[in-house]
Amino acid sequence: MQTQRLDPSPAAIAHAAELLRRGELVAFPTETVYGLGGHALNETAVAAIFTAKGRPASDPLIVHLADAGELPIVAAATPPLATQLAAAFWPGPLTLILPRHPRVPLAVTAGRETVAVRVPAHPVAHALLVAAGVPVAAPSANRFGHTSPTTAGHVLADLAGRIAAVIDGGATPIGIESTVLDCTTTPPTLLRPGGISLEALEAVIGPVQVRTRPTAGEQHGLASPGLLDRHYAPDHELWLFSGPPAAALVRLRTEAEAALRAGLRVGVLLPDDDLALMRDLPVEIESLGPANDPATMAHRLYAALRALDSRQPDRMLARDLDDAGLGRAIRDRLRRAAARVVEV
Ligand code: TXA
Ligand code: MG
Repeated sequence: MQTQRLDPSPAAIAHAAELLRRGELVAFPTETVYGLGGHALNETAVAAIFTAKGRPASDPLIVHLADAGELPIVAAATPPLATQLAAAFWPGPLTLILPRHPRVPLAVTAGRETVAVRVPAHPVAHALLVAAGVPVAAPSANRFGHTSPTTAGHVLADLAGRIAAVIDGGATPIGIESTVLDCTTTPPTLLRPGGISLEALEAVIGPVQVRTRPTAGEQHGLASPGLLDRHYAPDHELWLFSGPPAAALVRLRTEAEAALRAGLRVGVLLPDDDLALMRDLPVEIESLGPANDPATMAHRLYAALRALDSRQPDRMLARDLDDAGLGRAIRDRLRRAAARVVEV
């Protein structure tokens, strides 16, 4: 199969919508990352999503809607709290877990009686969903376990020849995935930190319980690979240095020097503020942006990780961030991408 690269013109979007209605797979930009879309109520299309991604059938998909008013199509009930959240954050980077409507195939929800739903804010995603007129199941448009795509080029690097088309809408603005909140528990449970911060959620609905892994303090000393739930993984190993920023950075530099002495090629992924300490070393550098600007760091994170990875370093080194705002989501992704977490 030849994957078509489409521009985001109305004619191309109409064509992509027709492909979706026919059960073909189309990748499209959202405000978070690119999604790998398929008709959510068509079992064959849903099965094809899992095949194209190489994703285990046990990992459920998010259903995307054009408008919150379509919720009753896929959710059997909408608790008042979900209505409040939808009003506050949709369209936007928030995914709500709700009771599944029986018309949503169990393949979408991996056999669960709950369904994940989101109304994306990106104009191309919105136009596509309106034109398709059907709910669209879409995981991130990467091979399973790999770094999520924030450009059409990233999508093609992973999925060319495996999907009908990708709509090129440029780099995605937020750059990390949506926040996933389970609204079927009391209080609701944060399952994945993302584009909407925990603080923003709690300002609207009060206390939220956090059940994401890994969390601060979970790993001590040199964590062994395999303890971490690895996702978003680059091809070359990433070591993450966690702890007070200054101490973590000093330790990172020490490890960089040791690796260089051992003849390894070293890449570093750091906030701009940290780069001065690395400039004299012959290492590959990707900067994330100002340390006090998590939005910019989130926007650049996956592209920087892919760019560094493509330079074939034997080892990549990064510093952990703090949990405030979007920092929680960036930190979660760095930890899941890391082969090793060094607590300083
Ligand atoms: O920003 C995003 O959410 C992107 C864009 C394309 O919308 N999508 C995305 O999908 O990141 P994916 O499949 O890579 O991640 C979906 C997450 C997974 O962690 C999955 O386990 C969780 O949502 N999820 C989906 N349905 C669920 C359910 N019924 N219960 C609990 N978790 C669920
Ligand atoms: Mg994903």
